[in-house]
Amino acid sequence: MKERERFSSRLGFILISAGCAIGLGNVWRFPYIAGQYGGAAFVLIYLLFLAILGLPIMVMEFSVGRASQKSAALSFHVLEPKGTKWHLYRYGAMAGNYLLMMFYTTVGGWMLSYVVRMLKGEFQGLTPDQVNGVFSQMLGAPVPLTFWMAVVVIIGFSVCSLGLQKGVERITKVMMTCLLLLMLLLCVRSLTLEGAGEGLRFYLVPNFHNLMYDAGGNFILGKAVYAAMGQAFFTLSLGIGAMSIFGSYIGKERSLTGEALHIGLLDTFVAFMAGLIIFPACFAFGVNPGEGPSLVFVTLPNIFNQMAGGRLWGALFFLFLSFAALSTIIAVFENILAFAIDLWGWSRKKAIAVNFVVIFLLSLPCVLGFNLWSSFTPLGMDIQTWEDFIVSNNLLPLGSLVYLLFCVSKKGWGWKRFLQEADQGKGLKFPHWSRIYVTFVLPVVMLLIFIMGYYQTFFQKD
Ligand code: ALA
Repeated sequence: MKERERFSSRLGFILISAGCAIGLGNVWRFPYIAGQYGGAAFVLIYLLFLAILGLPIMVMEFSVGRASQKSAALSFHVLEPKGTKWHLYRYGAMAGNYLLMMFYTTVGGWMLSYVVRMLKGEFQGLTPDQVNGVFSQMLGAPVPLTFWMAVVVIIGFSVCSLGLQKGVERITKVMMTCLLLLMLLLCVRSLTLEGAGEGLRFYLVPNFHNLMYDAGGNFILGKAVYAAMGQAFFTLSLGIGAMSIFGSYIGKERSLTGEALHIGLLDTFVAFMAGLIIFPACFAFGVNPGEGPSLVFVTLPNIFNQMAGGRLWGALFFLFLSFAALSTIIAVFENILAFAIDLWGWSRKKAIAVNFVVIFLLSLPCVLGFNLWSSFTPLGMDIQTWEDFIVSNNLLPLGSLVYLLFCVSKKGWGWKRFLQEADQGKGLKFPHWSRIYVTFVLPVVMLLIFIMGYYQTFFQKD
């Protein structure tokens, strides 16, 4: 049998796993959600969930990947006790990776298109209304939108076609390093803006009243807690085996809790820095930080418009967003390729050729959902919202629950085998005393997330 590919270095493993985690969730979703739920106090709760919920599940995913030496398509087959049905979850995991990409490629395309628009100075001299118009116009035009989505798909698979070490590892390392440098630069720019202090206060000094009540005096604590939990899953790409695969590309030299901690910290650092860039700028230019999902696309070009050298800073900012999105896309594409390679023994080349066509076609409904198919809105949600809902509110929490139960249940892989794998190697060990917590408390918390997700989507009106 062919030997499984390996990362060339520990740094490669950490940066690629971090690249998979760091994405739109950090630079687009985190700032706008933190903005909506009152800033600093929300950030504290989010950090708590990352630690008590995100990290243990990440260790479990890595352990399953490393012990099985397979992607999620086969990992349960290898580890499950004979006669059990855990392997059925492979369909959920595989679907989750494809579904995530079905809308991620489109949003990644928006980012790239904004880099070019910024460089060309398309927003200069426009009124805020006209800037908004550019965004809606972009969504309304299926051909350019498809073009940018295709560019993202081509970049992603081109990197994967160079192989695990020479492509995915080498290029993600460069991109992540540029991303971190770019962030530092933008952070300095944002923090030195006149009036930045107020933004910093909003972001860093907890005000629990803002976490409990919105500007209209509505009680929002429950929603805020739910949003914080959901964001912890999303940002770490947990529950669909997206992280698990990278465990299958490493050796046993290091224990997995320490590695997960590094990755979680890097992910948190990037999200935190994104806030440091966005909030001071919002306050300096009088933009409402609770603007919602359009915060980045609609309001920030206005900010860059008013800033000296805004064209360059704007292009750099969207380049930074593009890198974050691409690092996730490349990592998830690698996963998708591994499914075909593990399941059918395909060559990397064949897996790329087939998946290129598949991902391109699967991404089309999201693109068309903004224009030609915009009237298709079952239960009031457009196509992208549906895709996001299926992944974020279903597959991530339920899939994380599957990984968790698999690792703690006697009918699954079991606590002992999980601990043995997680703790193998140098570094931080998984806390053995946490058994009761991970076995009994965590599953209940996760089920709650799931139920709240449904309740919020279908029954709670704003
Ligand atoms: N973890 C990925 C992100 O944060 C999905 O965007």
